[in-house]
Amino acid sequence: MPCRIAIDGPAGSGKTTVAKLLAKKLNFYYLDTGAMYRIVGLFLKSKNIDENSIEKINEELRNLKIEFRNGQFYVNGEKVSDEIRTPEVGIYASKFASIPLVREYLTKIQREISLKENIVVEGRDIGTVVIPDAEVKIFLTASPEERAKRRYKELKEKGINVKYEDILNEIRLRDKQDSERKIAPLTKADDAILIDSTGLTLEEVVDIIYEVVKERCK
Ligand code: DC
Repeated sequence: MPCRIAIDGPAGSGKTTVAKLLAKKLNFYYLDTGAMYRIVGLFLKSKNIDENSIEKINEELRNLKIEFRNGQFYVNGEKVSDEIRTPEVGIYASKFASIPLVREYLTKIQREISLKENIVVEGRDIGTVVIPDAEVKIFLTASPEERAKRRYKELKEKGINVKYEDILNEIRLRDKQDSERKIAPLTKADDAILIDSTGLTLEEVVDIIYEVVKERCK
C-alpha cells in the first residue's frame, strides 16, 4: 500500500501551498481535488447548465473525461489552464460540489489515482470520505481574514485582478456552502490532526506534517 496523506481544510487555509511543498519534499505525487471540482464547475457552466438540472448534469458528466498524467489534469484530452482558478469558477465549483452525483463521479476518480502511488491529496473530504484510511490525515485551518490575504496575494502574483473584499466575501460564502451541505461537508475527521496556520509560516506547517509522515510511513 502506498503512503497516502490527506490534507483537508477551507479555502485559503494554505493547504495548496503546504500540500505542494510537502509532496516535493517527500518526492510524492500531489493531487489537487479542488481543481477537479473547478473543472466540473467550468465545464457545466460553459454548457449553461445550472445546479438544479440533475438529468442534464448526469448526461454531461458522461461526456467529461478527466485524466491525471504526470501531475497534470487533462479534460477530454486538453491540458487544463488557469481559467479554473478565478473566484467565479470557485463559486460554481462549490455549488456543483453539493450534488451527490458530481461527488460520486469525482470521488471514484480520486480513489483510483490515490491507490497507485505515494501521494499527497488535498481537498475538503479526503480524510472523511475519499481516503478515510489514509496513513496521515491533516485538517488545516486559519482565520478568514488571513486566508483572504493569502488568496489575494496568490491571485495578484498570477496577474489575476481581484479586490480583497471580494475574496473575503467569496471565502465566507464558500465556507458556508461547503460546511453546510448535506453530503460530504467540510469537516475534520475525528482522527485527523488539527493545525491552525494563523501566525505560522507555511514552511513551518510543512515541517510539522513531514515529521508525522516520517513516523507513520516508514
Ligand atoms: O480548493 P478549491 O478552492 O480549489 O476548491 C473549489 C471548490 O470545490 C470548493 O469550494 C469546494 C469544492 N471541493 C469539494 O467540495 N471537495 C473537495 N475535495 C475539493 C473541493
